[in-house]
Amino acid sequence: MGRGYNLLSILVTFLVLVAAVTAQGNRGSSRGGGGRRPRVGYYGNRCRNVESIVASVVRAHVRSNPANAPGILRMHFHDCFVRGCDGSVLLAGDTSERTAVPNRSLRGFDAIEEAKARLEVACPRTVSCADILTLAAREAVVLTGGQGWRVPLGRLDGRISQASDVILPGPFDPVDKQKRDFAAKTLNTIDLVTLVGGHTIGTAGCGLVRGRFFNFNGTGQPDPSINPRFVPLVQNRCPLTGDASARVDLDDGSVGRFDTSFLRNVRSSRVVLQSDLVLWRDPETRGIIERLLGLRRPSLRFGTEFGKSMVKMSLIDVKTGSDGEIRRVCSRIN
Ligand code: HEM
Repeated sequence: MGRGYNLLSILVTFLVLVAAVTAQGNRGSSRGGGGRRPRVGYYGNRCRNVESIVASVVRAHVRSNPANAPGILRMHFHDCFVRGCDGSVLLAGDTSERTAVPNRSLRGFDAIEEAKARLEVACPRTVSCADILTLAAREAVVLTGGQGWRVPLGRLDGRISQASDVILPGPFDPVDKQKRDFAAKTLNTIDLVTLVGGHTIGTAGCGLVRGRFFNFNGTGQPDPSINPRFVPLVQNRCPLTGDASARVDLDDGSVGRFDTSFLRNVRSSRVVLQSDLVLWRDPETRGIIERLLGLRRPSLRFGTEFGKSMVKMSLIDVKTGSDGEIRRVCSRIN
């Protein structure tokens, strides 16, 4: 009896385990919407030229306005951190994400819209705007001299976009908050430092910067942790009485090149955003910067790491099932 009972309980345990594993598997594939989980080569024959079409449109837009490259890279980050990488940042509307304060300075919407229009001709109703944005972000990096990476595709576009959902890491955030915000999106501290390394291209509005360069915490002096030789350069670029729309380079001396110069500038406290400057004060983020700069072992290659972290970021909460669609126009739901 005892032995029979043991056999029965082993059998029951086995069946429960099989059921659990199967359920897990099903969850996995339903997340992939019947195999729609993003993967490299997803469009295959259904849209052979998807990558080259996006690349050529982005190239033309960056050539006519180089600010589109950083604009598109940042747009992808802002898309992924709000409701996942579902193109919600692209939707127009009085209260859509685009109207939220951090998104008002985004650039490059026209490039995404034009790529979409070209793709609707080449392969109608096939390629999502979320996928176009992630491909365009890779192109922005490559066009500014960065290393490329293989982009998993197959995301669907979301149908919801609300300014009130736009809660993003901010330029005055301490390192712990930055780490927490990234961890909440499945990104670790190496991803955080590497992705913030994207500040190797682009600019910031002087309005976000002036306070710390002229009157830090009401002292009437610049933030003492900024390199004193760097202070007058930024004060000239962003004078107190200057043009409200003036912008300053995030990576002094190498703003158009996707390289490690920004990280070297963080090391020598020559950066304009407080959130970037503090990355050198925290031992963990400082250690990662040193590894990315090859100053500490095991070293990390910035170009390779950036691609790896971008792939991780591009998979945050992707929509692949009935919660999404393939928009015909990126600024409106179907
Ligand atoms: C802790 C995280 C981050 C914070 C606090 C932050 C903050 C900022 C701020 C305040 C600006 C200036 C915006 C403006 O004045 O128009 C900016 C620009 C930029 N950010 Fe970040 N950022 C973060 C992470 C990222 C990530 C993950 C990426 C991409 C991988 C990124 C890419 C960019 C780019 C390319 C620009 C330049 C935009 C342009 O020139 O139009 N940032 N960021």
